[in-house]
Amino acid sequence: MCEDWIQPILADAKSNGLERTARVYPEAGGKFKIDGKDILNFSSNDYLNIAQHRHVMDCSREALDKYGIGSLSSRLVTGTLPLHEELEARIAKEKGYETALLFGSGYMANAGTIPVLAGRDDLIFSDKLVHASMIDACKLSGAKLVRFAHNDFEALEKRLEQFPATGNRRLIITESVFSMDGDIAPLKEIAALAEQHETMLMIDEAHSTGTFGPLGAGLIREHGLENSVTVSMGTMSKAMAGYGGFVACSSALRNLLISSSRAFIYTTASPPAVLGAAMGALDIFESSPRLGNILQANADYFRSLLHEAGLDTMQSQSQIIPIVIGDNEKAAAISATLRDEGIIAAAIRPPTVPAGSARLRLSITLAHHVGDLERAAAAIIEAVRHEV
Ligand SMILES: Cc1ncc(COP(=O)(O)O)c(C=O)c1O
Repeated sequence: MCEDWIQPILADAKSNGLERTARVYPEAGGKFKIDGKDILNFSSNDYLNIAQHRHVMDCSREALDKYGIGSLSSRLVTGTLPLHEELEARIAKEKGYETALLFGSGYMANAGTIPVLAGRDDLIFSDKLVHASMIDACKLSGAKLVRFAHNDFEALEKRLEQFPATGNRRLIITESVFSMDGDIAPLKEIAALAEQHETMLMIDEAHSTGTFGPLGAGLIREHGLENSVTVSMGTMSKAMAGYGGFVACSSALRNLLISSSRAFIYTTASPPAVLGAAMGALDIFESSPRLGNILQANADYFRSLLHEAGLDTMQSQSQIIPIVIGDNEKAAAISATLRDEGIIAAAIRPPTVPAGSARLRLSITLAHHVGDLERAAAAIIEAVRHEV
């Protein structure tokens, strides 16, 4: 009986080029084979190509052998293993904060933290393009949402002046590297505004953890902004190649999150193998501190190939490179053509990105060598020219 209302919604999505499917791939890294054919995957978040790194897998296996499959309870019951606290201490050190707290995923870290920082009577100033997990968290918080133009700190300043503090709490949220545009927020200016207006600041470093900053610590650390950024959020699902999220913050805030964050309290603690893998990834960040630089140099090179052919990569300055197509169906058609040629370049369509800005979103990873980048750039240029 659900069919009555489900089918028209699905048909409508299909006719607008917005049908979504979860395709099955034999692997998820930057490069693999399907039926003997070389596939270049530009939609993987394994930026440093460590998902199958021997050390990371050994660390994961060690944790599995020592503690078993699951953590078997929520953190506040009996689910906190020594490994949770060891990893939190390491993340805090890496990020330059007093403490850190793990969450089941990056989505949950945002969903569990923002509603603790701001509630019904409070104000959240949000960049217009923040990730869905931050938007959902704002909705959950019940706070008044004030959006400012993307990466525009002058617009933010006007908003802060327009909505002054009146005894309520105020929070600014943004990302350091934007997940769909690959551009970088003006963090120094935003942090200065947060200080000047005595406003809390939370930055999502999902895509800059491991890829920017000293020992992959991200852009807050690179700019020395730890004291003006209240919460540094990150995820273990991108350059750390595993799963799970975290926030780095003061110990007072950590205590408050432990006692009141619903996404922390009402869920089972992260499993040992996942924590072990994260430890292994942090070891790699420490032992190979130049991986992020190499990745960014490769991304620069790839962008230059696209620019030479006249393609627009928006304001991308990171390993995430968008090529805006605009039309949903054309974006999907280009993505399909490339797939036939062994190049995976996902078409990202609304509502993930604003209407009219359907795009190919490419992630460069260290699995891609110079020859791979050149092969992919040539195929992408040809496919876009043919379709647009
Ligand atoms: C900017 C940003 N924040 C948060 C998340 C959520 O992280 P996770 O995949 O670990 O839930 C993602 C990715 O999905 C993201 O791109």
